[in-house]
Order: sequence, then structure tokens, then C-alpha cells
Amino acid sequence: MTTEGKARIAVTGLATMGSNLARNLARHGYRVAVHNRSSAKTRALVADHGHEGEFVPAETMQELVQSLETPRQIIIMVKAGAPTDAVIDELTGLLEPGDMVIDGGNAHYADTRRREAALREAGLHFVGAGISGGEEGALNGPSIMPGGSKESYSHVGPVFESIAAQVDGQPCCVHVGPDGAGHFVKMVHNGIEYADMQLIAEAYDLLGKIGGRTPAQIADVFREWNSGDLESYLVEITAEVLGHVDPESGVPLVDLIADEAEQKGTGRWTVQEALELGVPVTGIAEAVFARSLSGHVDQRAAVRTAYGTVSDFSSDRVSDSLVEDVRQALYASKVVAYAQGFDELRAASEQYGWNVDLGAMATIWRGGCIIRAKFLDRIREAYDANPDLASLLVDDYFRDAVQQAEAAWRRVVVAAVEAGVPTPGFSSALAYYDGLRSERLPASLIQGLRDFFGAHTYRRTDREGSFHTLWGGDRSQIDA
Ligand code: 6PG
Repeated sequence: MTTEGKARIAVTGLATMGSNLARNLARHGYRVAVHNRSSAKTRALVADHGHEGEFVPAETMQELVQSLETPRQIIIMVKAGAPTDAVIDELTGLLEPGDMVIDGGNAHYADTRRREAALREAGLHFVGAGISGGEEGALNGPSIMPGGSKESYSHVGPVFESIAAQVDGQPCCVHVGPDGAGHFVKMVHNGIEYADMQLIAEAYDLLGKIGGRTPAQIADVFREWNSGDLESYLVEITAEVLGHVDPESGVPLVDLIADEAEQKGTGRWTVQEALELGVPVTGIAEAVFARSLSGHVDQRAAVRTAYGTVSDFSSDRVSDSLVEDVRQALYASKVVAYAQGFDELRAASEQYGWNVDLGAMATIWRGGCIIRAKFLDRIREAYDANPDLASLLVDDYFRDAVQQAEAAWRRVVVAAVEAGVPTPGFSSALAYYDGLRSERLPASLIQGLRDFFGAHTYRRTDREGSFHTLWGGDRSQIDA
């Protein structure tokens, strides 16, 4: 630990993520100024981890600012929302033009856009940086998604790249784009994380309820899956969680955990933004709604009491290949979830002129973050080969994989429906795939109905223009 000399970078907000990030920076040889609203945490960090590198503890924000080299780089690691605004307000009065304020929390990208614009007015740079990987990632190498000006990236980029996870010699960090781009990408990362977890949970449910397997046996299945195409952090830790036995009762812990999934909001934001952008992210939406359904405990109890649970399911109908079928269904549904997430990224990038490189996003998600997966290499290759892919589904590799999985995917959804096991993720992914593939969709009828009750007009397949049928009159058609 040192208290002399200027620090290269600062971290304010020393809860677990903040202190681990500060330690990661210190371990990489950066002299880090550290500050927390209550200075007990600052002192504890230095006392417990001072030997890991050079920390400059600051009691006040003013002291923190004064301890930094210029242009200053200050990472804020506090709760998203009002607490972040409060810290920014306190900081801006103390900083000089050219200094950089970096928000490493899970901020809403619209807040980041607002803050970036306000700080730019004051001659300051605001970098909204998505950071993924939880506590462990923050300490040992997260995936970092910084937005903001190119100029700010020339300062913070090299630092972030050096502390990020590295895959094949490449850092899991890249300049995402201006203003809110970094936080938008992090938000979609989380949305995909929700979808991925929902699909994994459905696979577990099917193997247990239809396949009659115990959590320990399902853990083995996931362990096995983790050596193939599904290799990923979430599949790996699924085996860990399912294999864990509660030491007190000897019961698998997963059987004791209340089945009510919580959420902090990033998945919901991903869906809200997708609705605004007109991008169908059905997998993420189903994942958000499934969490919310699980939390409606009283309503669940009432409906269960009124109807009972599905009980006439016969395990004779279970196919011998259930485990392999579920693996295929999981893989295909996962391709759909990622395809949808990347569609949302593309749409936002176009809307805000961010110029986000989708292949680069797949590259920086290969390590450090929660959705890190072997699979992301394939996505990177797909976008490298064709940055303008209409959908990930049309890339040759994914087309072959999905086509190969299709029959198993349908068998799994049919079995789930018959057995009354809810699989909104698998089913909606399949419906999305079938929707995109359909030669004709019943949207024609929807247009007809809209025209009937609201004269909303329709277009025709056989001629140009917009038309309205005089439904209440002689039913002749007029040009609209
Ligand atoms: C990450 C995680 C992280 C956090 C989520 C959890 O990338 O490191 O996504 O950001 O674990 O916010 O979100 P929920 O509490 O909404 O599940």
C-alpha cells in the first residue's frame, strides 16, 4: 500500500464489485485511489488487500480527486439510478475539463446518454461501461463494454483491456460506441443471460419431471453437455448447483430453494427497449415473464387448487432419446435467444448511430462475463464472415445446427405440452423459428380485421398501394 504519489485511476463505491475491481487494477500494477461513502470500507480494503498492489485511500471525494494524475479517471461503482447521479453531481464540481467519469454499474443506457450529454457540456468525458462477470470476474478478469467518446477510450481502454479476461490472447473489452452504447450492450447481455438461464431451467425441469432423473443425475448430464457445443459458464455452474447437497438435511439444495426467481431489472429493460425498437425478443421476454410468474405465489396456489396439477401423464410416452432431445432443444432455443439479442443490438445501433460491431461484441463475451460460452466463437465467426447477416439463424453453421436439432426440438415441446411441464422458452423459440420460416403468416387476417373495425387499411400481394374495404357498405375496395 502507498499513500504517496498520484494514482493512475480511482474507484469510488467499494461494495464487493467495486473493491474487487480496485484490487484487479492494483494487481495489474496500477496505483488505485479508493473511496467509499463510509470510509470504514476504504480502510478495510486497504487493511485486507493492501499487499496486493498500490492503493491510495481517500476519505473524501475531494481527496480522491486530488490524488489523481490528470486527466483523471474515476470509476463509479455504486447502485444504478439516484445514487449514481448523486456521486456524479458531487464529482463534477471537483473535476477539470478533460477528466473522465466512468460508470461501471448496470445503468440504464438512457441515463447514460443523459449523463454523457450533461458532462460533455461541462467539458468532461462520461464513460458508461458495462462490466460483467460478477464478483469473481471483477477480481480476476471481467468482460468490459465501455461506451463514450473515442478520446476517453484512448485513456481508459488500455487500462480496461489489461484487467479484462483474455481469450486467445484477445482482451474481452472493446470500445462499443458513443454515449449509451456500452450500457445498452451490457443490458442485452443480461437479457440473453435471462433467456439462457430460463432455457437451462426448463431442460432441468424436463429431465426431472419427464425423465425421472434426480438433481444429481441431471448434474451429470449438464457436466457431460459442458464438454460439447453447449460448453459455457452457465451450464458449468448448473452442474455445480444441481450437484450440491444441503449439508444439514442431506437433500439436494435445489429442492430446498424457494422456486420464486427474482430480478433487478436489466432483463425487463431489454424487453422494454425491444418493444420500442420493434424487435421480437420472445426468448428474453418469456424468461422475464417466467420469473415474474414464479413470484406470484398466491396466484399459483389458487390456480393449483382450482385445477390440480397435470396428473395423467404417462412416462411410456417419453422417448428413449429424451436427454439428447433436450440437449438439441436447448441448443436450438439458445441460438434463437442469441439471434434475437443480436437483432436488438443491431436495431439500437442503427437507431442511435452507434455503429456497434456485432462480431466484436461476440468476441468480448467469450470470456469474463456470465454468458461466456464456446458458442460465442461461432457467433463471432458468423459476423466476421458477414457483418450484415439478416439473422444469426441464416449463418451456415447455425442453420445446419438448428436444422439438425429441429426434430428433437419439436419432440421436446410436444412432450412438455403433453406432460404439462411449462417450457415457455423452448416453445416460444420454436414458434419464433416457425414464424420466420413461414411462407404466409396469419398477419393477413390481422390486417383484414384492423381494416374492418378501424379502417386501418391493408396492402395487397398482387399490386402496389394501400387499400380499404367498405366493410359496412357495399364491400367494394377503395384506394386509401
Ligand atoms: C453480470 C450479471 C450481473 C448481475 C445481474 C443479475 O453480467 O455480471 O448479469 O450484472 O448478476 O444484474 O441480474 P438479476 O438480479 O436481474 O438476475
